[in-house]
Amino acid sequence: MPTVQTLRTERLALRPLALDDVDAYYAVYGDPRTWEHLPSGRHTSRDESERAITASIDSRRRYGFAHCAVLLREPLGELRAGVFLGSAGAKMLDFDAWNLGYRFAPEAWGHGFATEAAAVALATAQSTRPGTPVTARVLGNNAGSIRVLERIGLERQWRGRSAHRDGTADARPSTPGGTTHLERVIYADRVLDDETLDAVIALG
Ligand SMILES: CC(C)(COP(=O)(O)OP(=O)(O)OC[C@H]1O[C@@H](n2cnc3c(N)ncnc32)[C@H](O)[C@@H]1OP(=O)(O)O)[C@@H](O)C(=O)NCCC(=O)NCCS
Repeated sequence: MPTVQTLRTERLALRPLALDDVDAYYAVYGDPRTWEHLPSGRHTSRDESERAITASIDSRRRYGFAHCAVLLREPLGELRAGVFLGSAGAKMLDFDAWNLGYRFAPEAWGHGFATEAAAVALATAQSTRPGTPVTARVLGNNAGSIRVLERIGLERQWRGRSAHRDGTADARPSTPGGTTHLERVIYADRVLDDETLDAVIALG
């Protein structure tokens, strides 16, 4: 399967994540500020970031696209050209749907980079596998991320607190650090069939 190489937008380059990115990636994924809405998701070791990048490399090989390193093309204020701003892209789920995602260093927030990167990631996921829906999951209190998804044209498919589509209480006991009580919002680039929506909801 042909794989997508570097993508360019007006200000950004999105290139395949590589193992050389581990330190820069861990600086973003290990930073508690980038997990304000989901502290339990923070990477607590460099190995965890290395595993995530390895999975992304494998996934790109299989599905043609994955998460990318997002680099700044020209200097902007304190940010120098070529700096690793964060990651953005789409991950193929265990069923036939992409999960769009992004995470940026706090120093890079507020410049419209997430919107710019998410827009090209969405278009690339769609063109790589046109029959595969592009979905995104976000916590209901993550106003910035919700705004990004709406700016790029995704539409809300579901909002709820439990792992059940009808909103009934989750029967599983809550585990320390569990996240099933958090309100989630699911977006997609098309109306999802019931099976796909249920599967995305079940991801929690
Ligand atoms: C959420 C995040 C990706 C936004 O990145 P960003 O580059 O600052 O976003 P943009 O500059 O493209 O902003 C897009 C819009 O969201 C708004 N926005 C950004 N952060 C916001 C916040 N914290 N609260 C409210 N609105 C916010 C911007 O004002 C902008 O709105 P506009 O279109 O009306 O101008 C970034 O803060 C981040 O990486 N956070 C940590 C990781 C994360 O939450 N990832 C998403 C997980 S689902």
